[in-house]
Amino acid sequence: DLRIGTAVAGGGHHLEQEYPDPFTYDKPYRKVLAREFNSVSPENQMKWEFIHPERRKYNFGPADAIVKFARQHGQVVRGHTLLWHSQNPAWLEEGDFTKAELRAILKDHISTVVGRYRGKIQQWDVANEIFNENGEYRQENIFIRELGPGIVADAFRWAHRADPKAQLFLNDYGVDWPGVKVDAYEALAKQLLADRVPLDGFASQAHLSMRYGAPDQLQAVLQRFDDLGLYTAITELDVRMDLPEGGAPTAEQLQTQAAYYKTVLDACLAVEDCNSFTIWGFTDKYSWVPVFFPAEGAATVMGDNFERKPAYYTLRDTL
Ligand code: XIL
Repeated sequence: DLRIGTAVAGGGHHLEQEYPDPFTYDKPYRKVLAREFNSVSPENQMKWEFIHPERRKYNFGPADAIVKFARQHGQVVRGHTLLWHSQNPAWLEEGDFTKAELRAILKDHISTVVGRYRGKIQQWDVANEIFNENGEYRQENIFIRELGPGIVADAFRWAHRADPKAQLFLNDYGVDWPGVKVDAYEALAKQLLADRVPLDGFASQAHLSMRYGAPDQLQAVLQRFDDLGLYTAITELDVRMDLPEGGAPTAEQLQTQAAYYKTVLDACLAVEDCNSFTIWGFTDKYSWVPVFFPAEGAATVMGDNFERKPAYYTLRDTL
């Protein structure tokens, strides 16, 4: 039942372009997207600033196009994301709303967006990056700051009401090794389940850097959530590296990268209900990494011309 997915590029600040998205004009990109994956995640197109640019205006075009593409190619969709501190529109972040208004705005947004794609989304990242590294709730998140952490449970309830069949996930980075952040998620997951909140899964984004070593305890982390009866997933895997002078990775770096990718896939395969293995883009051509992590890059499984790297072959041979 394991789905193999990728983010669908588009709308990112790093691409310096908005709609149309690469997959609508880059034919080779579109071909690989259709051929290699049976799950897709909009990289930006369902985030608040894109899909809800003004208080009373939604922009569904780019997200609709991805959902349609997925349908045509027998792919499922991971919706991303509903409650996050980043990529929110100014009208929301800078608006002068009462608590009751803010709550109504979030409820409305979730009901509208999740409702629009009812029956067409396999999994939703309902809550994204809600904890800091120290395991405390992120106060940059306007909903958590203004409404308190109980809003997380409400977000799950509203999403469930809008699409009862979608699997609803907690999603974060920095949860590939045990530690206080993972502890915080485990405690939250237990609490939500005890309170009968419709939580279905816990996901590691798995944005990895070769600076920090291979995620050799990821399986154990995922297992803790599997033990709670949850699905687990890898949702945004990429493996960045320090690029040598000239920009091209060495053969040795590419082998190391392939081993990291394999470690993550093996972890997912070893855990019974790990049901999605998604990489955050499949070609370096559109990867967010070089823009967000200076001096690092080459983080995906294909080069700029869709040439396959060792990581591609390793994943293929492992599946
Ligand atoms: C990134 C996108 O890849 C970029 O295009 C965008 O400019 C910024 O966001 N965690 C997440 C993703 O949950 O949504 C982020 O995606 C990467 C980190």
